[in-house]
Amino acid sequence: MSDILVLPAQDVFDTLRGVKEPVTTTVLDPWYNKGVGGVREDYEEWLTAVVDEAAHISTHIFVWGFPEIVHFVLDRLPHGFELVAWLTWYYKNCPSVIRGWRSAQLACLHIAERGARLFPEHFLNGAQLEKQRQGKLRYMPGPPSVIEVPLNIGFVGRSEQTGHPAQKPFKVIEPLILMTTEAGDLVLDPMCGSGTTGVVCRALGRRAILCDSSEEYIRITKARIQSSEPVVLASHQSRF
Ligand SMILES: C[S@@+](CC[C@H](N)C(=O)[O-])C[C@H]1O[C@@H](n2cnc3c(N)ncnc32)[C@H](O)[C@@H]1O
Repeated sequence: MSDILVLPAQDVFDTLRGVKEPVTTTVLDPWYNKGVGGVREDYEEWLTAVVDEAAHISTHIFVWGFPEIVHFVLDRLPHGFELVAWLTWYYKNCPSVIRGWRSAQLACLHIAERGARLFPEHFLNGAQLEKQRQGKLRYMPGPPSVIEVPLNIGFVGRSEQTGHPAQKPFKVIEPLILMTTEAGDLVLDPMCGSGTTGVVCRALGRRAILCDSSEEYIRITKARIQSSEPVVLASHQSRF
């Protein structure tokens, strides 16, 4: 298969049931049941079923959402899965559209099969790698569980912007892929939006399968993947 496969538009369940190969990491970034994408009454049942289906083929799963909405996933973990980390994406630059607290965070629940491998060593900088080589690295420092990256809006992240209304910045998805995968591993994003996960996988030398129910977003994703850089890093040092 090509390193990044973009499927024709289809529902998330069709994608999850159609993947016949084990997936190392699945990114689930659906509409949030608030704001853009609208509200569905059966959101909890629907997302629980999506997570369960993903768990049949995946070692790691990341579930995105607003904390006050997505927390229920923790009470309904798939059999054999555990919470690895509650991650927060913190962005200060969201323009206020409501009177009151200005939205500045999204949650990302990292759940995985018990005992799934993590790769904190992918975050070591040059000096730390050298210490590790000399056997002098006394502990393995992990990346922070709060990912502080601004929203791509206005002039911020202009070169990344595709027009998708909920596009995640590259730097928000990158740590998820680095922590859970090695070069050549397979990543799945069945609600890929503008294809950010695919662009990150291309840059890091991971394989990926992408899909979305919207034909318009599939077009955006294909164009974005075609113009992205297939850079396979010799090492991950100095990326943070
Ligand atoms: C929050 S956006 C994903 C943004 C993406 N991570 C990015 O960086 O561009 C949610 C996406 O889920 C897709 N989606 C929602 N429901 C879906 C479904 N039932 N099947 C497949 N895709 C769906 C939407 O079309 C939308 O593009």
